[in-house]
Amino acid sequence: MSAGIDWEALTEAATQVRQNAHAPYSNFKVGAAIQANGTIFVGCNVENASYPVGLCAERAALAAVIAAGKRKIEAVVITADRPITPCGMCRQALAEFNPEVPLLMISEQVEAQATLGQLLPDPFA
Ligand code: THU
Repeated sequence: MSAGIDWEALTEAATQVRQNAHAPYSNFKVGAAIQANGTIFVGCNVENASYPVGLCAERAALAAVIAAGKRKIEAVVITADRPITPCGMCRQALAEFNPEVPLLMISEQVEAQATLGQLLPDPFA
């Protein structure tokens, strides 16, 4: 995939942060790592007793990127029990910063690749 992206470090970071997920309602832990301006930022899903309040791992990681003053989103790794594509809300959130960002979606054995543009063509901008 794309040059200048440390997929191995991103995978490790996403796998680590997934352990911190708060997912007592779905029992579905998700970890996400985003490389932005060469630095890795992480997020996990944070569920809530009031279900709609829950936050996805991807948007948690994105919030960390933006809070750190970064904007150049270069790559995203998402890990869960099985390879999952980001939900529609997370696709739109990521598209705000890079509608063509490459994504690696992994679980222990399986992985899948796509660009955000393949998953969300023609996002609202
Ligand atoms: N979830 C994510 O964190 N990212 C996704 O891309 C899809 C779903 C979370 C939300 C919820 O905490 C759990 O996975 C089950 O839907």
